[in-house]
Amino acid sequence: MNPIEKKLFDCYECIRKKTDFSPRVAMILGSGLGSFADSLRVECAIDYAEIKGFPRSTVSGHKGRFVFGYLGNVPVVIMQGRVHYYEGYEMSDVVLPVRIMRLMGAEILVLTNAAGGINTGFSIGEFMIIRDQISSFVPSPLIGANIDSLGTRFPDMTRVYDRELSNKIADIAASEGIKIQNGVYLQTTGPQYETPAEIRAYRELGADAVGMSTACEAIAARHCGFRICGISCITNLAAGMSGDPLSHEEVKETTDRVGRDFSNLLGKFVATL
Ligand code: HPA
Repeated sequence: MNPIEKKLFDCYECIRKKTDFSPRVAMILGSGLGSFADSLRVECAIDYAEIKGFPRSTVSGHKGRFVFGYLGNVPVVIMQGRVHYYEGYEMSDVVLPVRIMRLMGAEILVLTNAAGGINTGFSIGEFMIIRDQISSFVPSPLIGANIDSLGTRFPDMTRVYDRELSNKIADIAASEGIKIQNGVYLQTTGPQYETPAEIRAYRELGADAVGMSTACEAIAARHCGFRICGISCITNLAAGMSGDPLSHEEVKETTDRVGRDFSNLLGKFVATL
C-alpha cells in the first residue's frame, strides 16, 4: 500500500474507533462560515488533533474539527475549518479529509469558501454558485501513485459541479430572496493575496472569483466519486478593484455580516438532499 493510502486508512480507522456515524452529505465550511455547524442536531464532534497523522488547520477563523449530526433527517458531516496548501501541507494531506468523508459513506460534498470577487458585476457580501473552476495554478492533489480503490488514474473534469444540485441552490436562494451569482472559481496557492495584474489576467482567463482553497478538494472529490456543489461568499473585491488594500479582517467582517443568510441558504438546501 502506498504511504498516502496507508495514512488515509489509518486516519479512517482512528475515526471509526470514535464513531460509526454514516453521513450522506459532507460539507466544508470556509473562513468565517463555521457557525453554520450550530444549526446541526449534533451527534458527536472529533477535533482534528485527536486523529493521529491528521493535518491541523492553523488559520484564525477556522476551528479544526469534524461535526457529525442531522439537518432535518439528513445525516451530515461538517468540516469546521479546512486544511490549506499554504499552511505547508502536501496536497495529499490537504484532500485527505475529503477522502475520509467519502470513506465514511458521504455521497454529496458541499464546498464553501470566502473569495475575492473578480467579476465587475459582483458586490461584496453576495454569494456565488461555483459552476466551474480553474486549478491550473496549484499542483494536482492526484499527483503520485493512483489510489485505485478510490478512483481512476485520469478522472474526467468536464462537469465538476453537479448541475442539478447547483440549480437547486439557485431556486432556494430565489425563494428566500437571497441574491445569488454564478461563476468560475480560481484557486491560487496563497497565502499572499493577488496583485492587480494577476487579477486582470485571471479575469481574462474566465475567472469570476478567487480564493486559496476548494478547487483541489473538488478534484479529489470527483476522483473518489462525490457529487459536488459549491458556494463562494464574495467577501471583498479582488486586488486593484477598489483601490483599498486587502485583509483577512475584511474577509471575516463580511462573513460575520452575511453569515445568517449563508446559514439559512445552506440549511434549507441540505435539508432537501
Ligand atoms: N483572494 C484570495 N483569497 C481570498 C480573497 C481574495 O481576494 N478573499 C477571500 N479569500
